[in-house]
Amino acid sequence: MNKRIVIGNWKMNPSSEKDAVTLARRVDEGVGALKRAAVLIAPPHVFLRRVVDEVGHVGVGTQDAFWEPSGPYTGEVSYQQAKSAGAEFVIVGHSERRIYLGESGEMIAKKLKAVLSHGMKGVLCIGERERVDREVASVVGDQLLSALEGAAKNDIGRLIVAYEPVWATSTVAGSGPDTPQSAAKTALYIKKILVSRFGTAAGSAVPVVYGGSVNVKNAESFMREGMMAGVLVGGASIDAKAFVEIAIRVADF
Ligand code: PGA
Repeated sequence: MNKRIVIGNWKMNPSSEKDAVTLARRVDEGVGALKRAAVLIAPPHVFLRRVVDEVGHVGVGTQDAFWEPSGPYTGEVSYQQAKSAGAEFVIVGHSERRIYLGESGEMIAKKLKAVLSHGMKGVLCIGERERVDREVASVVGDQLLSALEGAAKNDIGRLIVAYEPVWATSTVAGSGPDTPQSAAKTALYIKKILVSRFGTAAGSAVPVVYGGSVNVKNAESFMREGMMAGVLVGGASIDAKAFVEIAIRVADF
């Protein structure tokens, strides 16, 4: 059986290396005994190496990576640099990067291609901005197809798709999670696109996880009624106790 996936996106937190080390250590200790869930955490680049050195049970990755291995790209961190610091996965196309940093579909496709073709796992985030049902399929479908433009079928075994409706992200004022039932419908649609792009075997094997205000109370329902392969957790992932509890519930449901 495939392991369920629990990803913690720390975003721009915490504010010191000391706190990052403490958080990583607590999460690592808390999930050490879980057999049925793969737990991944994505600290800020600047803490990556220290966090990698600190953990033994969780996988560590980054929240973004540039598509060239090195070069004149001021301020950027490449997939190659992240890899050499111990990252095993990269989150690509997170909505906060699309919105605040102006990341385009083309940039996201380049990043995903670079990550997947260099042996790392890619967690591709897609999701509509507004809660308008009739638009979900077209927005999500367009984002997915555009991101996969350069992705090779042979590399798809390292892809994870995270469905994260932007309106459901905990940092958006007045937000709340999607319902598991509606998230399940979108996940099914995502699977259909993956199958039509990569064939039944490869396409249907790509895990689709849900993100957007996942917490201790609702994590299990996204696995059960939402039929997700796992969850991507933002806000609750920087609370070690809550994140560990989410991982336990996802592993045990
Ligand atoms: P949230 O964030 O769990 O705080 O809603 C999810 C994300 O933005 O990845």
